[in-house]
Amino acid sequence: MKNIVLMGFMGAGKTTVGKRLAKALSCEFIDTDERIEKEQGRKISDIFAEDGEQAFRDMETDLLKRLQDSKDTFVLSIGGGMPVREENRALLRKIGTVVYLKTSKDEIIRRVSGDTKRPLLQGGALEEKVTSLMNAREHIYMETAHREVVTDGKYPQQIVEELMK
Ligand code: S3P
Repeated sequence: MKNIVLMGFMGAGKTTVGKRLAKALSCEFIDTDERIEKEQGRKISDIFAEDGEQAFRDMETDLLKRLQDSKDTFVLSIGGGMPVREENRALLRKIGTVVYLKTSKDEIIRRVSGDTKRPLLQGGALEEKVTSLMNAREHIYMETAHREVVTDGKYPQQIVEELMK
């Protein structure tokens, strides 16, 4: 089996779906945000605040480069901004089948409202932030994905079942 990479906007459900999918496939689950936090011994919000976004993006690329050499099969859930770097897009497609968990703007806003952990969504005007990031990223997700699954109105388990098919 090829690795599966779950890609999508913040709040698309990548981590929740990824954990369940890995369990259903009896393989390892890796979440890039969790892995970076563990390796750094600090939260993403602290990395952004202390070192800046570019340093975090370098950590993401560095992790992908290491993962491409892994011998084990895994389900990989990536941070929403990972595919913005062209270098990462090529790495992701090399690592596995890239599935875009596509979620509408309204649904994303519902899911992330009240979030305090994602640095790019803090400081008010949530709808404007989500709109401009989504506009900038939608075509990137489309061009990177091998497959696309709409998540609106679906429970994580339904998405897992779709992916298993
Ligand atoms: C980011 C998404 C976050 C995390 C960081 C930046 C982004 O991950 O990597 O806050 O640029 O979209 P999730 O997509 O898991 O929220």
